[in-house]
This record gives sequence, structure tokens and C-alpha cells, in this order.
Amino acid sequence: MDRELALEVVRVTEVAALASAQWLGRGKKNEADGAATSAMRAMFDTIAMRGTVVIGEGELDEAPMLYIGEKLGNGAADAPEVDVAVDPLEGTTIVAKGHSNALSVLAIGDRGTLLHAPDMYMMKMAVGARAAGLIHLDDPVEKMIEVVAQAHHKRVQDVTVIIQERERHQALIEAVRETGARVKLFGDGDVGAAIAACMPQTGIDLFLGIGGAPEGVISAAAIKCLGGDMQARLKPQNEAERERCRAMGLRDPEQLLTLEDLVSGDDAIFAATGVSDGELLQGVRYLGDNLAETHSIVMRAKTKTIRFIRTLHNLDYKPNLVWG
Ligand code: FBP
Repeated sequence: MDRELALEVVRVTEVAALASAQWLGRGKKNEADGAATSAMRAMFDTIAMRGTVVIGEGELDEAPMLYIGEKLGNGAADAPEVDVAVDPLEGTTIVAKGHSNALSVLAIGDRGTLLHAPDMYMMKMAVGARAAGLIHLDDPVEKMIEVVAQAHHKRVQDVTVIIQERERHQALIEAVRETGARVKLFGDGDVGAAIAACMPQTGIDLFLGIGGAPEGVISAAAIKCLGGDMQARLKPQNEAERERCRAMGLRDPEQLLTLEDLVSGDDAIFAATGVSDGELLQGVRYLGDNLAETHSIVMRAKTKTIRFIRTLHNLDYKPNLVWG
């Protein structure tokens, strides 16, 4: 994959963040998501690539834009063929409520490298480079925490596990606390939480829990760039969802998915822009005079380069893209 694509796709998350941040705190999650989606869609068409959406806003009959199978990019014959996974607004409820940690995120990989995960739940485990390869999704929580503590040369009491605050995680939260480790709960946005567990110096050592499968694949691309590890397992809730898993080619709908199953090959690009202020990135700032500032991260698995990009946008020159 062309390395220039990394700098190109960050424009896409920037514009989606600019568009959705307009809706921060207005109680309208669908409008915020719609604004991010149409801005993202428009910017993709300016990029020299032949992309296919494998993770997007839904199937063609559910989503008018960024639907699964949609072709993206300017289509130039010599442009690279890539899989595209998008979440134009990761944290729709966050934006509606005016809370922290909403992101616009995407991942791209060579054609055929990103798992076409259906929109259902997925159990996920993510760790940073130090503990990569040492933890299995089925390990008891005590063992996971001990291994992470050893890998980070810290006491179990100093290990922090990040878990989404949901009823379904109650037993897991108690099991972690039982070991003496700390739990950091978050409301929404598990892509950012999984990344936080894999970035050095965040104080978060392990991500565990059930969240969206599409978010899982996007997280896996980021984790591959960070040299961390992730394992996952789809959690179909009914026969129709189990059938969807089989249709994707999984022998067993609940088979273990390794990082390589989620994102195969040695390359992938991940980009994110902050919508609201968060631990990973600052959110969009409107500065007056029709200027706005965004903060983004873009990473590449092949070279493990992590770029933080601060951009000043003059909105006089991009009215259509930002305001839809
Ligand atoms: P949305 O942006 O679609 O609202 O997703 C937010 C999110 O927190 C994801 O990060 C996570 O994977 C999923 O929701 C968890 O789903 P649920 O809210 O059903 O527990």
C-alpha cells in the first residue's frame, strides 16, 4: 500500500470530525452521525485509491452512504486497491450528550486483508507490545492480569484494565477487582479504549469486554500499527446472526479470531481525529473567524510510524464538505 495514503486518509477523518463536532451537546446522535458520514464520503472521492467499504454504516438497504460494498476513491486505473473500514463517528451518544472521547476513525488495508465483520457484538482483548503474544482470550482474568503485571514490571495492584460500563460486564468487572487490579470504566467508544491499552504511557494495561464487531476490526488495525495484540470472538445473539458468521466463511461462528484474522498481512493504515476532547486526542476547536483546529493520529503497521497531526482549517474554503 502506498505510504502517501496515510496522509491522504487523515483528511477524511478531519472533515468528518469537523462536521460532527457541530452537533456536540445538541442531543441529536443521528444528525451527528449523518454529518460525519456525508463529509467523510465526499472527501474519500478526492483520494487516488480504488477502495471498497468492508466495514461501514450498514448494508446497502440500511445506509445510503458508506454502505458495505460501496466503491470509494477517484478510481484512477493505477490507484491501489484497498479495503476500507470506517466509523465516521465513534461515539454518537457521546456527541449527543456533549461528553468526551468521541472520534472519527477509519482503517485501510490491501484488498482482502480486513475481516468483513458483521454488525453484531464481539468479545475483545487488547494489550500493548510488551504483553503481545502472552495472553489468550480464554485465559482466566487473574492469569491475564498477572502476565500483564510481569510484562510491565509492575505490581498487580498497579495494573489498570479498561472496560466499557455495561450491565453485561458486571461479573468481569468484579473478577478484575477481585485480583487487586484497578478497573477504568468508560461509557462509549471502545476503539479509543482499546488503543489506550496498547499505547505506551497511558497507564492502561489491558482492554477487555464485549462491544461492536465493526469497531473491533478498526481497533485491530490500530493495534497492528502499535505492535500490540488483540484476540476476539463474535457473539451472535440469534440464529440469523450465526448464519451471517457462517456466510462470512467462519466454520464456527464463535471461533477465536486472532489479530491476523482481523487484519491480515503486514500493512494497514489507521487514522483518527478527535471530535470531542479525549485522552487520545483533543477535540475540534472552533476558533472564531471561521477557523477550526483538529488533532489527529495516523499510523502505519508496516513501519510502525505514529504521527500526531494538528491542523488549522479555514472553513471559508471548505463550506460544502464541513456543513454538508
Ligand atoms: P456508536 O458510536 O455507534 O454509538 O457506538 C459506541 C459504542 O460504545 C462502541 O464503541 C461500542 O463498540 C458499542 O457502542 C457498544 O455497544 P452498546 O452500546 O450496545 O453496548
